[in-house]
Amino acid sequence: MCDDIKNKSLSISGAEHVNRWCALPAPYPEPRVVRPNHYYAMLILEDYAGAVSEMTAINQYFYHYLTFEEKYEDLAELEECISIIEMHHLELLGETIRMLGVEPEYRTLTHNQPVYWNASFVYYGQNICDRLASDIAAEKMAIRNYRMHQQMIDDPYIKELLERIIMDEQHHLQLFTSYAQKYCPGMK
Ligand SMILES: [Fe+2]
Ligand SMILES: [Fe+2]
Repeated sequence: MCDDIKNKSLSISGAEHVNRWCALPAPYPEPRVVRPNHYYAMLILEDYAGAVSEMTAINQYFYHYLTFEEKYEDLAELEECISIIEMHHLELLGETIRMLGVEPEYRTLTHNQPVYWNASFVYYGQNICDRLASDIAAEKMAIRNYRMHQQMIDDPYIKELLERIIMDEQHHLQLFTSYAQKYCPGMK
């Protein structure tokens, strides 16, 4: 195999795209489930593509990256880097939802009604401080929702995966908070 092809296959194998400066250097468990379970899939769909979800985080942080690019280069890089980690979370949750027996379309199925993800879930914001405040709030809400779902899901593999994702969200919360202290001192 030529080196180019070998490198490419390495880079799409899963580990490479989360090997970034903003990532926690801890391995992820392989997505796995004890058995298919429609109710658990419904809970995880909320984290996957609900209003507060990985889909929303990916798109919100990527939009904030675009708005910060010219003026706040370090913060722009942070938003881009975290957005890519959230995409890895999306992948892990999507694979889990499939294993639970549900197609991982970008929608929730609460009350068995499909509600598709939409771009109004993103907080676009007006300035650096309201954007950072919203990013911090998003991470806090994500952690709270993951903790709640961990309690409701009696499957050790899923609990373990959510625990690892929570570790990332706590790390993101710390990173966003430290940038808020730098650019928005006094922000509550
Ligand atoms: Fe995430
Ligand atoms: Fe996050």
